[in-house]
Formats: sequence, C-alpha cells, structure tokens
Amino acid sequence: MTNITKPKGTADIFGANAALWRYIESEIHKTAALFGLEEMRTPMFENVELFVRSVGEATDIVQKEMYTFTDQGGRTYALKPESTAPAVRAYTENSLHTLPAPAKFYYIAPHFRAERPQKGRYRQHHQFGVEFFGTPSAAADAELISTFHLFITRLGMENFALHINSIGDADCRKRFNVALLSYLSEQIDGLCPLCRERMNKNPMRVLDCKNSTCQEIIKDAPVPLNHLSKECEEHFEQVQEYLTNLGIPYTVDKGIVRGLDYYNRTVFEFLSTDLGAQSAIGGGGRYDTLVNGGAVGFGMGIERLILILEAQDKLPHIPRDIAVFVGGMGDAGAAKAAQIVYKLRKSGISAISDLCDRSVKAQLKYADKLNAAHSLVIGDTELESGHAIIKNMQSGETKEIEIDKIVEFFGGRI
Ligand code: HAM
Repeated sequence: MTNITKPKGTADIFGANAALWRYIESEIHKTAALFGLEEMRTPMFENVELFVRSVGEATDIVQKEMYTFTDQGGRTYALKPESTAPAVRAYTENSLHTLPAPAKFYYIAPHFRAERPQKGRYRQHHQFGVEFFGTPSAAADAELISTFHLFITRLGMENFALHINSIGDADCRKRFNVALLSYLSEQIDGLCPLCRERMNKNPMRVLDCKNSTCQEIIKDAPVPLNHLSKECEEHFEQVQEYLTNLGIPYTVDKGIVRGLDYYNRTVFEFLSTDLGAQSAIGGGGRYDTLVNGGAVGFGMGIERLILILEAQDKLPHIPRDIAVFVGGMGDAGAAKAAQIVYKLRKSGISAISDLCDRSVKAQLKYADKLNAAHSLVIGDTELESGHAIIKNMQSGETKEIEIDKIVEFFGGRI
C-alpha cells in the first residue's frame, strides 16, 4: 500500500484543513437558509448521455474531460463533471415542478474533470451550487447573483469582480452564428483542428479555445451581445436594474460565453485577482431550454474559494475543542479515567484519556498537544479520597473537585 499514491489532481483533506472545510460548508448552509433554499443531493455518477445532451457534444467537458466507465451491465456512466444537468434530471424525474415556483435548490458536491492539474484546477473539485427552477424572471437572475455575492461578502472576501453578459436565446444565436461563421471562415487557416471541427458543430464553442493563435482570432470576433433580440435586450437591462437596486456592482463583459452549451440570456462570472491563472471563483447563468418555465443557477469552486480566502487571510483558526484530559496512573487509575471520560461524553462534554500506556508526564504533554482546556490525573490517592485536582491548562489555576461530581464542574457546558 505504501507506494500507491492518490490520483493526480485530487486532495486528501484532514485535520485543521477539514475543519476549515466544515466552516465553509456551515456558512453555505447558513446562507442557503437566508435565501430559503432547499438542499439537493444527486448521485456521484449519471448516465453519460445526460451530460452529452445538456452540457453539449462540442464542449471541452464532454470532448476531453469526462471520467466515463461501463458497468457490469454494459451501461455507460460518467462521474459527474458538473451538477446542473443532474439537478435538472432530479427536478424532472421527481416532478418537482409541483412545488411552489420557483423551486430553489443548493448543493455541495464533488465533481470530476480530467483537466491538466495546476493551482486552482483539479481533477476532483467541489462546488457550492444553486439552481432556481420555474421562473424566467430577471428578478430571479438578480436574486441568484445576490446569493453568490452575499455568501462571499459574509466570508470577508475582497478584490472580486462580477462580470455579466447576455448571450441571447436560440433565435439570437442563429443570427449570431451567421456573423461568427462568416468571420471565422475568413480566419480558418489560423484555427486549431478542434476549432475547425467546432465551427461546424457549434461555432460559439470556438470562443472558449485556450490555444494562443485561436485566442488572437477570437479577440476580434463578433460577440453575442451585439446580436440580441429586443426581448433579450430588455431582459438583460432588467437584470442590470435589479442588481443596481440591490447595490451589487457589476461590469458588462461581452467576452463571457461560458463553456457549457445549456446557457441562454444572462451569463456571469465572479472573478478574483488572487487566483493566478484561474480567475473564476464561480459562474453560471440562465438555462431556459432545459427546464419548462425557465431556470438559472451558478456553481462556485470551493477549493478556489479557500485559496482566495487564505491569500486574503480571512480564514478562521479553528482549534480542536477538548474540554478535559483525564489521565490515569496505574491500571486502576487508567480504568477510572476511561470511565470518567465516557461519563463526560455522555453529558455532552468533550473528554480524552490516554490510550497508549504513556507515563503520567507523557500523558500531560499529550494533553497539552491536544489543546485540552483542563486536565486531571487519577491515581491511587485520588481513588482512595474520591477527590482530584483539576487544572485549567491556560491559566494554570487548580481546584480540588469530587471525582463523582466532575460533570457538575462543567455544568451548563454542552
Ligand atoms: P463551471 O464554470 O464549469 O460551471 O464551474 C463552476 C466553478 O467550479 C468554476 O468557476 C470553478 O470555480 C469551479 N471549477 C470548475 N472546474 C474546476 C476544476 N477543474 N478545478 C477546480 N475548480 C473548478 C458549472 O459547472 C455549472 N454547472 C455552473 C452552473 C450551475 N450553471 C448553472 N447552474
């Protein structure tokens, strides 16, 4: 086992780091409660077709990044690369349209993408996602964006920017594609082979290409925002009015098209300058074609969120919370210590005793390392008298207590 290492682009999260994740997760649950969101948990793997159809055949995710496998029954699944398609599937499959609209859900989930790992980009990453189902209203777009904004603000994040854009609906896309194809056809010699293929399948996906020569061409390409219908234009204006009304600053960024096919109308990203090459904390948008009545959502990368908060020194130090260490001297003392810690735990008081046959001196060193708030040691004298000296590890203060009344000593502490 010793020379088997974790898969590239994954992480082991433990100890103080895991405590930070719990902190972030508990803040997510609190923010979700403020907005009346309900939690949704979907399977770790789904039918591969779900992603091919909704995320899109010509996207990086589907073309290059999915972890797919065939099970014993010959069915082909993918570890989920994102959770919007699964959430839509769950919404439909469980008839959640019968809930009062909009049905508002959130999730904290791992996602799997076979990308080239680097800082902020992993093969297993986690997202805090929110999806609103059953409303086409621009007010929903603004409220969804405000969920993201309030969450990162509550965590104390600084130096971020909200970029928004509209990519229009299917009719706008048809007009835009004509303009884009005409532009790209003139530049075809400079495009990479994948982009040439994408031109036929889904020209807008050419705009996601990271290849440097394609980037040169993309920067002067037509943009969807200049090809919007009147209705889509009005919708985008309303989104901006609602954001202004909420006091959320934004920049209109014509270059945002998002890398997934299901979007229409509003798309947005929250960017940070503290992320290096990966500047997006999260992003999302509207995806009315997947859900009757319309839908809008976002996904935020939790690893990226933690990287930014760490760089900005906004993460709390979360020490282990141990109320008391009970040491034991000799077999009878150790047995009594085990009894006492169990009694304390049953009363909701965190307590630790030695499990490694340490000397008393080593036990107290261990108590110190655990950061226990109090300590006491039970030996023959204590067993005989029924009393022990409890020490406040921080102040050094000591007090004699009746061993059988130790729970009362911590009275009120749950
Ligand atoms: P996405 O932009 O692909 O959108 O991912 C959302 C966020 O997840 C990214 O902005 C980033 O913070 C994080 N992320 C994505 N890939 C990685 C990775 N390889 N390593 C680390 N972090 C990563 C979606 O997935 C959509 N489902 C979002 C959405 C929800 N749209 C509507 N509803």
